[in-house]
Amino acid sequence: MNGAQDPAGRSEATRENAPAGRSEATRENAPAGRSEATRDNDPAGRSEATRDKYPVLSVRGLTKAYHDRPVLTGIDLDGAEHQVVVLIGASGSGKSTLLRCIDLLEDIDDGQILLDGRDISDPRIDADKARQAMGMVFQSFNLFPHMSALANVALAPRVVHGSTRREAQDRGRELLARVGLAAHADAYPDKLSGGQQQRVAIARALAYDPRLLLLDEITSALDPELVGEVLALVRELATAGRTIVMATHEMAFAREVADRVCFLDGGMIVESGSAERVLTDPQQIRTRQFLQRFTGLDAS
Ligand SMILES: Nc1ncnc2c1ncn2[C@@H]1O[C@H](COP(=O)(O)OP(=O)(O)O)[C@@H](O)[C@H]1O
Ligand SMILES: [Mg+2]
Repeated sequence: MNGAQDPAGRSEATRENAPAGRSEATRENAPAGRSEATRDNDPAGRSEATRDKYPVLSVRGLTKAYHDRPVLTGIDLDGAEHQVVVLIGASGSGKSTLLRCIDLLEDIDDGQILLDGRDISDPRIDADKARQAMGMVFQSFNLFPHMSALANVALAPRVVHGSTRREAQDRGRELLARVGLAAHADAYPDKLSGGQQQRVAIARALAYDPRLLLLDEITSALDPELVGEVLALVRELATAGRTIVMATHEMAFAREVADRVCFLDGGMIVESGSAERVLTDPQQIRTRQFLQRFTGLDAS
């Protein structure tokens, strides 16, 4: 499925429809120049009042198989507004697949994904539009190598929302400043450190002011000395009230920042609860075994 997705995590459909600056979906809905989605910043189309009644994210009974092999089974997961939910689990346990399903980059076989109470996994929903309410960052930064940091960040608002070049650049500069990279706007990715590239990728994910930020092991490809600056940025976003679902192996960080921790094993959530409880007093043997691999946590 990786091939169906560009570095911004958008689908083939969005890209193909948007060379002239706007996607089909956006154009159709925007006779007055703005799409329904843009108007109240809520691609799911819900009012403030309706939003407050629901968690930002609610996954119900999500099941997904690859070639008849189950990869996720009966996943239930909630992310309330301003919460940080951390997914932990061994490699292959299904963390990335879950994040990609939530971001509608994968079809699901059963269950529902609700964003602000609206079922975005309904096949009748315009996935590209729904996806604009989410920002996803991957382990590999996926920046366009032939574009400056600013161009990478400014691309998304321009292509999908049809802002003018000037507006997109202003917004891009604002976002780069937000991640501490105002001075590097004109630098190309190969002149930036891994940590800086990942911060550019985070800036790009923030371009639509997403309701939900999905972070998939965003520090795993970084040299150890660069992990801190990226985690510091995530900590800042969390403190500022971003709703975040992130897969990570950084247990100390999870303990500090997460409101909830979910431990996945074999495509199932085996245990979930407060970070403190799951990470220091796990109830399940499999959680304990997993945590024992990380030093500094007495999970015996
Ligand atoms: N595109 C795919 N096709 C077939 N199997 C896949 C695909 N993507 C992931 N898987 C399988 O799904 C399981 C979960 O993978 P993944 O979600 O990447 O786990 P994690 O992120 O926790 O390491 C693994 O067994 C992996 O091999
Ligand atoms: Mg993964």
